[in-house]
Amino acid sequence: MAVIQTFGLSKRYKDKWAVDHLDLQVEQGDIYGFIGQNGAGKSTTLKLLCGLARPTRGEALLFGKPVRDLVSRRRVGVLIEQPGLYPDLSGRENLKLYAILSGLDSPDKQVDEVLETVGLVPGEKKPVKHYSMGMRQRLGVGLALLGGPDLLLLDEPINGLDPEGIREMRELLLRLNREQGLTILVSSHILGELSKIATQYGIIQAGRMVEQLSAEELAQKCTDYLHVRTDQPRKAAALLERELHLTRWEMRPEGEIRVYGAVDTKAVGQVLTQAGISVEEMGLHRQDLEGYFLARMGGENHV
Ligand SMILES: Nc1ncnc2c1ncn2[C@@H]1O[C@H](COP(=O)(O)OP(=O)(O)OP(=O)(O)O)[C@@H](O)[C@H]1O
Ligand SMILES: [Mg+2]
Repeated sequence: MAVIQTFGLSKRYKDKWAVDHLDLQVEQGDIYGFIGQNGAGKSTTLKLLCGLARPTRGEALLFGKPVRDLVSRRRVGVLIEQPGLYPDLSGRENLKLYAILSGLDSPDKQVDEVLETVGLVPGEKKPVKHYSMGMRQRLGVGLALLGGPDLLLLDEPINGLDPEGIREMRELLLRLNREQGLTILVSSHILGELSKIATQYGIIQAGRMVEQLSAEELAQKCTDYLHVRTDQPRKAAALLERELHLTRWEMRPEGEIRVYGAVDTKAVGQVLTQAGISVEEMGLHRQDLEGYFLARMGGENHV
């Protein structure tokens, strides 16, 4: 089931299209990595999805209903950029205040559950102004979790975090996805930050969707070549050409064969071993993800 669908979603500010005919699809259970450089239109898209901004053209559906539908909207938790926190209140007090203002049932229970989920100590009195950036962002996700949403929209929650903070945020998102079944759309301008968790990617540039692809497709596209080292390289190469119709290959020094393009690694292994050729080494050489992203963006700009 599609949790988010947009059709030609567009938003114009004065004479500039911040979002331009965007078709985006997020399925239930996805962790959707929404990747784009500064000014690409990520935040505007998220604002359109949560009803903070109105589309100039096109439409967005959440759970199959228009964004303005209150029932669907209640199933969505949002964190756009920095969470709005009261610096002198503790994490617990911030959450409780928000829970009360939102009219949630049994706020204390919900707040304790959320604190535990995001890895903050429920009884801690420390004011938020003394929190690390990572703790603040996790508390921000906590705010988005109040009310028990099915979908989380997170705008750059990893931005500005140190490696430890990034790791904690990644683990939190994976846990929410796997254990609580949340569908998550998370934006970033750094593909590598999401590469360990995203199941789907959408790449946005100048308001337009450049490419939507699954994690497997991305991995495949980032594959430069497969290298195979065997005890009989010439025979192996001939066999791969004949049996698997692999034509883009080259023989390297010391009998290493490199096969370019998308290759079925398992099939290569099978064909060789069945012919009695012993495979000494085999592996995929990958282009790094950031390189792929930059290439898709035109290659010149920095992310
Ligand atoms: N309220 C606004 N009024 C005018 N222009 C806007 C407004 N909001 C966004 N824009 C413009 O729309 C474009 C997309 O901005 P947006 O904030 O959605 O990008 P982004 O991908 O979130 O970028 P960043 O990585 O910097 O957060 C930018 O050119 C921005 O200047
Ligand atoms: Mg933004």
